[in-house]
Amino acid sequence: MPLVCLTDFQAYAQEHLSKSTWDFIEGGADECFTRDDNMAAFKKIRLRPRYLRDVQEVDTRTTVQGEEITAPIGIAPTGFHCLVWPDGEMSTARAAQAAGVCYVTSTYASCPLEDIAATAPRGLKWFQLYMQPDRQLNKQLVQRAESLGFRALVITVDAPKIGNRRRDFRNQLNLKMNLLLKDLRSPKERNSMPYFQMSPIDSSFCWNDLSWLQSISRLPIILKGILTKEDAELAVKHNVHGIIVSNHGGRQLDDVPASIDALTEVVAAVKGKMEVYLDGGIRTGNDVLKALALGAKCVFLGRPVLWGLAYKGEHGVEEVLNLIKNEFHTSMTLTGCRSVAEINQDLVQFSRL
Ligand SMILES: Cc1cc2nc3c(=O)[nH]c(=O)nc-3n(C[C@H](O)[C@H](O)[C@H](O)COP(=O)(O)O)c2cc1C
Repeated sequence: MPLVCLTDFQAYAQEHLSKSTWDFIEGGADECFTRDDNMAAFKKIRLRPRYLRDVQEVDTRTTVQGEEITAPIGIAPTGFHCLVWPDGEMSTARAAQAAGVCYVTSTYASCPLEDIAATAPRGLKWFQLYMQPDRQLNKQLVQRAESLGFRALVITVDAPKIGNRRRDFRNQLNLKMNLLLKDLRSPKERNSMPYFQMSPIDSSFCWNDLSWLQSISRLPIILKGILTKEDAELAVKHNVHGIIVSNHGGRQLDDVPASIDALTEVVAAVKGKMEVYLDGGIRTGNDVLKALALGAKCVFLGRPVLWGLAYKGEHGVEEVLNLIKNEFHTSMTLTGCRSVAEINQDLVQFSRL
């Protein structure tokens, strides 16, 4: 049977991955309330279609940080792709390049950045950084990414400590994952160390440290994980170039708002001074349309990309991306939007349910 929607890929991945890998991907923090709310919140928004417009030509293209992409849909940073498919992030990068979308590569990639850059040299890639306690290591990572052609730095702010992922605790997953990390080791260590302790994320990193990052790199800085107007205003004050409204797919702090519910407040606070993106719970083309209507410039997919990777590697990720791009094209056509610029908040209403 063909896979016709993203949740078909989810069912395939659940059937074919080991229990511990499946649990790692699907799991959320604590009771998984926010993970599930990310999806449920989209269902409280209804569409207000406009008809009798000429929709023979519908153009899904847009830009992020000045670079053109084929649709406002990208790949969120997720770690450890080699758990899911042998050449992991290299497959993901090639699929993103073929689909013409932005791929945000994680600090916890299981392939070296050099290999990822070499396998998809024309694809738009951003590098996600979990600040490490060792400043020198951060500097090396940032400068390596910049010299390899990554076009922006995505600083994840919602993980000064890893959330309580009960499934991973039960499966005692850590050792297996530590072995997969490559970029946090020196080149000499990369192939020789039998055991590597994942270094903790720097929990002392704060707003004033952003100027240090700005001093070592010319790349635009995007903060991932902002959920409040207060932090959005601080992001403006500190001259960052973008925000990804995100709750880490519900994997960090449980009981925070669904990403789509936090979006409006953040968009209002930045007053158009930077691009605002969203990830969390995007599963259909209509979800993409709703996020754009509420002010997101682009959305990013986390788990669905890993489901595609588990299905057929590079080609599975491409199928996932093309499927949601096609759905988004349909959503635009059926609501009367000929270009991404025509998507606005008049297209949505909040249901009373
Ligand atoms: C398996 C997995 C690994 C992740 N690894 C990272 C990571 O390394 N860095 C990061 O900033 N976010 C990470 N995230 C969070 C995603 O970037 C994203 O915020 C989230 O998955 C979006 O929600 P969705 O899965 O509902 O699309 C991870 C998420 C998952 C599911």
